[in-house]
Amino acid sequence: MGKQSKGHAIMISVPYQGHINPFINLALKLASKGFTITFAHLEFVHQKLSKAHHSGNGTEVDLFTEARESGLDIRYATINDGFPLEFDRVLNFDEYWGIILRDFASLVDEFVGKTIQSEPFIVPFLVTDAVFYPWPATIADKYDIVNVAFWTQPALVFSLSYHLDLLREKGHFPCKDNVEDEINYVPGVESINTRDLMSYFKEDGFPIILYKTLPLTFEGVKKSDFIVHNTVDEESDILSALNKYQPNYAIGPINFSKNLTTNSISKSLWSESDCTQWLESKSPGSVLYVSFGSFVHTSKQIIEEIAYGLLLSEVNFIWVIREGILNSGDTNHVLPVGFEDEIKDKGLIVPWCDQITVLSNPAVGGFLTHNGWNSTVESMWCGVPMISYPIAFEQVTNMKLVVDDWKIGIRLCDHGMSVDRKIVAEKIKSVMCGGSISKRLRQEADKVKTVMRDALETDGSSKRNFDQFVEDLEAKIA
Ligand code: UDX
Repeated sequence: MGKQSKGHAIMISVPYQGHINPFINLALKLASKGFTITFAHLEFVHQKLSKAHHSGNGTEVDLFTEARESGLDIRYATINDGFPLEFDRVLNFDEYWGIILRDFASLVDEFVGKTIQSEPFIVPFLVTDAVFYPWPATIADKYDIVNVAFWTQPALVFSLSYHLDLLREKGHFPCKDNVEDEINYVPGVESINTRDLMSYFKEDGFPIILYKTLPLTFEGVKKSDFIVHNTVDEESDILSALNKYQPNYAIGPINFSKNLTTNSISKSLWSESDCTQWLESKSPGSVLYVSFGSFVHTSKQIIEEIAYGLLLSEVNFIWVIREGILNSGDTNHVLPVGFEDEIKDKGLIVPWCDQITVLSNPAVGGFLTHNGWNSTVESMWCGVPMISYPIAFEQVTNMKLVVDDWKIGIRLCDHGMSVDRKIVAEKIKSVMCGGSISKRLRQEADKVKTVMRDALETDGSSKRNFDQFVEDLEAKIA
């Protein structure tokens, strides 16, 4: 602090872990470049964080105390979304998201107005997750401020959504079941089969609300001044193709930084179990990490097949059994009866952990993942090969990148979603037990790890892109 601020970024976070993590890291990155930040979480997120990190009512939790102590001008605020705190925003996602994309705008508008008034001498601008559009463009227009959209997923998914009209014209949006067409007409996208399209490209896919709102969201995104992406240029030529229309910058992997402040922020919505001691008792590369992220759920039958597949494989494992992992909503009887006794010291079951710390531990040699984009990038950063079990959203498209393009993972199921314990065990062994598949995956994962790390080096692609973005942003708001 003390130096003149370059501008005032007003940032409102999407209230889900997979969006919170990259968004907080973007806030820190911008603050480290000399911008003032007002970062707002929704009140229910603030309450969850307080519970997770202060084990009590802890209403005074402030994410950025340490960041401020290290000299960043970053303020923390909360904003009400108009729903009761106890309303389940995951189980009732369709209802919630429909209202967030419509009625939440007036609450944000009020918040933005007040925040601008609180700092009359610093030029304000709006930074929101791209999935919040179209309202960020409308609000920015009203206050005559610049708006930046942050896309937290791969450029491939962005580009397919950006070119919806083209896909519609060719009969691929909405996408129909049992059609396997090759799409090779989207600018910058070499080729993708319709079976690898996002679940919400189908009229009855999950979640239905996204199928309905996606066209409007991307109409809004097209009105943003800048788009930053949590990927690397090395993903593909997609962003250079998109630059014809709007300035796009690949600045990932955003969840990593050499700045320690980034890592000390409490982002997890659940208390983290410490796995380090257990991992230290295991030999290098011997542990499979299993997690399906913070949002999606599955059936008890699939959990059971994975559980017995893990046992049959005889591989060490850490498995995150998160609250809400079952689609039945049952929280007490997730794992098969007696399973936890059977695993003895071979497995560790935790409700949540610090995933990056786990993946960075040398004992971890594989990741059975739903391929949420953060998990995918974190695994790539750590050079850990994946076994992909996508459940919804864009996860199946991420799997295509991991398995077909970068060759750093294998599919858990070769067809559909049904899981069989013997196949689970076979797939786990092929990744974890040193055969030819395992060797090939590890070699490729090492190469990808280097690409990710190089991107953030002094002359790396993402470092250059971020500097360029800051320069362009400064020029625009000047
Ligand atoms: C959601 C969507 O489901 C996903 O498809 C989209 O790409 C992002 O938004 P989520 O399912 O939570 O995300 O998955 P993911 O993107 O992998 O994000 C989960 C985050 O939680 C990761 O950053 C991971 O490090 C963190 N995590 C997960 C933990 O810190 N601890 C855990 O125990 C599990």
